[in-house]
Amino acid sequence: MRSPEGAGRGDEVHASPFELPVWHELATHRAELASTSMGRLFEDDPRRGVKLSAEFDGVVLDYSKNVITDRTVDLLMRLARDRGLAAGIDAMFGGTRINTTEDRAVLRTPASESVLLDGVDVVRPVHEVLGRMSDLADAIRSGRWRGATGRSVRTVVNIGIGGSDLGPAMAYHALREFAHAEVEARFVSNVDGHDIDRVLGDLDPETTLFIVSSKTFSTIETLTNARTARRWLVDRLGDEAVGKHFVAVSTNAEQVGAFGINPANMFEFWDWVGGRYSLMSAIGLSLMIVIGPEGFREMLAGAHAIDEHFRTAAFEENLPVLLGLLGIWHRNFCGAQAFAVLPYDQRLALLPAYLQQLDMESNGKSVNRHGCPVGVDTAPVVWGAPGTNGQHAFFQMLHQGTTPVPCDFIGVLEPAHTHRVHHDLLMANLFAQTRALAFGDLDTPEPPPHRSFPGDRPSNTILLPSLTPYTLGQLIALYENKVFVQGWIWGVNSFDQWGVELGKKLATSIHEDLRSDAPPDFDSSTNALMLRYRHARRSGPVGQPSATTTGEI
Ligand code: F6P
Repeated sequence: MRSPEGAGRGDEVHASPFELPVWHELATHRAELASTSMGRLFEDDPRRGVKLSAEFDGVVLDYSKNVITDRTVDLLMRLARDRGLAAGIDAMFGGTRINTTEDRAVLRTPASESVLLDGVDVVRPVHEVLGRMSDLADAIRSGRWRGATGRSVRTVVNIGIGGSDLGPAMAYHALREFAHAEVEARFVSNVDGHDIDRVLGDLDPETTLFIVSSKTFSTIETLTNARTARRWLVDRLGDEAVGKHFVAVSTNAEQVGAFGINPANMFEFWDWVGGRYSLMSAIGLSLMIVIGPEGFREMLAGAHAIDEHFRTAAFEENLPVLLGLLGIWHRNFCGAQAFAVLPYDQRLALLPAYLQQLDMESNGKSVNRHGCPVGVDTAPVVWGAPGTNGQHAFFQMLHQGTTPVPCDFIGVLEPAHTHRVHHDLLMANLFAQTRALAFGDLDTPEPPPHRSFPGDRPSNTILLPSLTPYTLGQLIALYENKVFVQGWIWGVNSFDQWGVELGKKLATSIHEDLRSDAPPDFDSSTNALMLRYRHARRSGPVGQPSATTTGEI
């Protein structure tokens, strides 16, 4: 069990982590390691690969291919303790309103025991909604849910964006092997009309169910797509079909009703579920319909297992804590600007985009929870692509570029296909890449400059036994809790996203202006671009190629 050290020293730690003595010890230690190579570290300790690994519930984390020593780990653990991470974890799981700017608690996967928020048990309603979701999923999967013309639903279309899209879309892509043979899911997110055209193109309205997923039910992209979808349906099946072909997932019953969806067809979640943390809530409805209620509950169980591990394991063995602290080491002490997520599994192709929102929207902040400058660097640029495709795209930069990028390689031991040759090659590439990044080219003693590999490029390797709803739940919770660790150490509120508001506000006023004839009154660049668009808009219907001229500008 985790040591209670540091407990009770959570939110009262207001200052920047920069003010902690251990922060400076880490900086000094990093300078001392400047000339240490990974090759030397491995030579000095033949057991390093095993020693700097941790495992929980089948998930393996090998973090030995980082330029770190026992002292680095000790100092990082001290940083976690001195920063009150234990108290932070307790505060999150205990329902403290740690999302201070929105005055909200942040609760996680449904526990079996009750959790009181303002004296009210929040677990019971969660299970009630899960029950209603299961009923709908079963009805659709069995063909009992009939559309307006009496036919069964064969396609569910999730309309959402950000956290109301990326989670279900990523998980659906990952878990296709578990999908119902006759029910597919599609996802539309972008306000770009090409996106909804692509989704509606060959759809049969009689066998389609739209799920409008929006925590706030005020997101313009989602509402615009939902209105277009409703028009498309009504044009084909009439007004009365909406009740049988539209359901909603939201926290906002009033707006759902105003949109015209019967509140009986709304699946609720609560403000203590952050948008980018919402896959495990009713936002996962499209996924549940396709993989079935049992599969969905397995995903919840996997996430819950990692949550319990995160809550109770000693920091030294705690996978999310280790991942979070290693990220802090790279970002704050080794100067890494970016972080690459490299799943060696095509089914996890959407994981980098999912983690990009999770990490960058959560921790891309410059002020701390008390409104003061953070004083240290926060979220890195997160990107990635599945291996081996990425190897033929951007790995050149990872190996020989001027900016070292820490990477997480994710491998799955047992594939769902039977092409052993493919899987052996895939995994060989994963292992080869981490080795090449760490040690460079050991077989070529004096390469010409363009063929030399500096090595000492850090990576973690995460291995899952197989890709199932359970292990996907584990993987998601692993990263969610990692992001929490980093946010807590940096002192930021990982659960708000005020940075996206300004763009939304400006888009609203520009949208109004685009449709008027009055001269736009922004800066000269924005004005000129708008006038060019207005001209194109007048010359041809949107969607048709139209000539643009500069005459009006
Ligand atoms: O991009 C901002 C954001 O609020 C995300 O945090 C969220 O996931 C997304 O918009 C969608 O919001 P909603 O579910 O309320 O439509």
